[in-house]
Amino acid sequence: MRSVRIGIVGLGNVGSGTLRLLRRNVDQIERKLGFPLEVSAVCSRSVHTKPGDAVALHPTAFRTTSWNELVTRPDVDIVAELVGGTTVAKDIIESALTAGKPVVTANKELLADHGAELWKQFRERGVTLGLEASVAGGIPVLTALRDGIAGDSIDAMIGILNGTSNYILTEVERTGAPFDQVLGEAQALGYAEADPSADIDGYDARSKLAILAALAFGERVRPEQIPVEGIRRIRTIDFAYAGRLGHTIRLLATARRESEGLRLAVRPALVDKSAILASVTGSYNALWVHGQGGDTFYYGRGAGPEPTGVAVVSDLMAAARTLRKPNGQPAPPFAHMSLDDHTPVSSGTEERQFFLRFRVRDRPGILAGLAAILAEQGVSIEAVLQEPHFDKSDLPFVVTLEPAKRHALEAALEVMRGLDFLVDDPLALPIEPTLTAS
Ligand SMILES: NC(=O)c1ccc[n+]([C@@H]2O[C@H](COP(=O)([O-])OP(=O)(O)OC[C@H]3O[C@@H](n4cnc5c(N)ncnc54)[C@H](OP(=O)(O)O)[C@@H]3O)[C@@H](O)[C@H]2O)c1
Repeated sequence: MRSVRIGIVGLGNVGSGTLRLLRRNVDQIERKLGFPLEVSAVCSRSVHTKPGDAVALHPTAFRTTSWNELVTRPDVDIVAELVGGTTVAKDIIESALTAGKPVVTANKELLADHGAELWKQFRERGVTLGLEASVAGGIPVLTALRDGIAGDSIDAMIGILNGTSNYILTEVERTGAPFDQVLGEAQALGYAEADPSADIDGYDARSKLAILAALAFGERVRPEQIPVEGIRRIRTIDFAYAGRLGHTIRLLATARRESEGLRLAVRPALVDKSAILASVTGSYNALWVHGQGGDTFYYGRGAGPEPTGVAVVSDLMAAARTLRKPNGQPAPPFAHMSLDDHTPVSSGTEERQFFLRFRVRDRPGILAGLAAILAEQGVSIEAVLQEPHFDKSDLPFVVTLEPAKRHALEAALEVMRGLDFLVDDPLALPIEPTLTAS
């Protein structure tokens, strides 16, 4: 049977992984589809000078440095946009749509910003947009939310959505090495970018959470409306104190449906060691979902050429099936036919227990002073923890708080920042309750 022909723009990590899988699994893909997938064209700026081994696996594929040429070729039926960023990638996707061609993309940044408009345009033209690879890489969360648990109504989701941050946090915990050293090692191993900000400052996880809010709740939330805090300030000592409380620390992307609306955030938080998310270590990703049908949990590689390539190839196969089905309706990539605009609930009204870590130049009366500032905002201390053998000129200690509203805590922290005995600003981490919807 005639093949469906694929054009791939972007031959980096994900593009190469996709090309390798399309070659290695060529027979199996044909058996599953009933027709072959063929790579008919590939594009990157350096395709002629540095084509790479993966391109060599498809010797008959046309090579070009012009994405526009690839998109408009009559022998390209489906376009894979694997370039990244929000500029050229958007042009590629819109040009493919103009040509009436289905698109598969792994681009979370673009989808978080423009996914809803893009899907509207694709839906109006009856063309498939596949984006499984954009959230949690190789974990099929889109398919789970759109198909597997479509019959459920979701109350809450908590994800570990950035493998680099999770690798760094769990290495700091495992080895006791300083944060900056572990970050340097992660960069040397290729787990972290030279500019690690998108990963360790939480922006990558925030883009994914914005897409997940669409998938799970049908709401379009702009990423910049989601409060974000990264992991740069987490120290080895924080794991020691968290451990004494029976907890560990993870960068969590949280979404809860509450009576006022959705409450979304990306923040490092204390997680009970008995919770399933605490067992997610290294560069793995996971998503815990709570609905009326109970809990489900999704776990796997959130990035990397092959895991992400699997998601891209699976989307290519789904798009090819729709192309071959007369009058086939494209499956909604956000699990909903359309998305509503939604402003998330302010995080200030969220009530949580908190873990506050201080570093102080020790002197009498410090604790009483801090307790008074907290009390002025109606916040009570639950417990005080102090590890022995620290230098009195930089003494770390932790207080845990009774449940408090975040805005009351923020007001107290603002006052504390002016205190002359603090070595640096206090670190405030929420303590995730029991990883349930409440
Ligand atoms: N890496 C992962 O594990 C992962 C996981 C999930 C999702 N993603 C997403 O997947 C996408 C690709 O990521 P990646 O890691 O594969 O990126 P990458 O390794 O940097 O590869 C990007 C590719 O795009 C090409 N490119 C850039 N500008 C181009 C242009 N104007 N015309 C043609 N080609 C152009 C580059 O070509 P030259 O090298 O010739 O410049 C390169 O081949 C991103 O949206 C990313 O967020 C990545």
